Amino acid sequence: MQGRVVVIGSLNMDLVTRAQRLPRAGETLAGESFTTVPGGKGANQAVAAARLGAEVAMIGCVGDDAYGQSLREGLIAEGIDCRALEVVAGMSSGVALIVVDAASQNTIVIVAGSNGCLSSRLIERFDAMLQGADVVVCQMEVPPDTVAFALARARQLGKTVILNPAPVNGPLPVEWLASVDYLIPNESEAAALTGLPVDDLSSAQEAGRHLRGLGAARVIVTLGAQGAVMVSARGSEHFAAPVVQAVDTTAAGDTFVGAFAAALARGCTEHESILFGQRAAAISVTRAGAQPSIPRLEELGG
Ligand code: RIB
Repeated sequence: MQGRVVVIGSLNMDLVTRAQRLPRAGETLAGESFTTVPGGKGANQAVAAARLGAEVAMIGCVGDDAYGQSLREGLIAEGIDCRALEVVAGMSSGVALIVVDAASQNTIVIVAGSNGCLSSRLIERFDAMLQGADVVVCQMEVPPDTVAFALARARQLGKTVILNPAPVNGPLPVEWLASVDYLIPNESEAAALTGLPVDDLSSAQEAGRHLRGLGAARVIVTLGAQGAVMVSARGSEHFAAPVVQAVDTTAAGDTFVGAFAAALARGCTEHESILFGQRAAAISVTRAGAQPSIPRLEELGG
């Protein structure tokens, strides 16, 4: 069975520089390479879900520039339904300025561009798409009112709702949390959401419990090489990460979310879906770039 996933979110062109280390404030540093790579948390998650077995539709906005055209063509080449991908006249597409260091860590600055034009009206226009979904996935690189609308509508339709709260600077409205089946932050996002330090398994469990107390049904905190922690009504469970040699962690979280959504949509249990997401993310960190690093189903052995 091929489940249906609808992703509502951002598309960015990633402008990626590799350097030995990340620059300090005020410093000019010589980079080693520069590449232009399709990215954006929404589009990355859509590509991951599509490559990993789901039928995917994306609701989002691109600018009427060369980046927008290329981002759209990339999604179409993955078999993603782009009928709800609006081209915004007179706007530039979203971009992300990324520096990756020798230890495979990154810093990212995003400029929203046309992602800032994604409105609830567009989602309303494609309500039939949401109605046909098994799983609806949102992130936070588009306007907050739009995310709020999407979560509420998906909840009203009884869909499985995933929110990857990225990027985030502070707590989320409790109505958002109440609409979400799976809240999937990484450690820094979990810290921002709760005000608690999150850097290991026990602090991730604590943050997960805090977020459940605020209304999230299940919280999965991703911790990179330390794996993931799920906090649900059953308590807290740790999922160890596969051991790999990372070269670039960009879009590892997106790969996890997209793979997890695809697995849930085709009827896997949440445990199977988490393990599947971890295997996909582990492969993605061994390769450079956002969308180019996302594996296909054959690479995960089905
Ligand atoms: O999560 C990685 C993504 O964050 C990049 O592709 C970049 O576009 C930013 O959105």
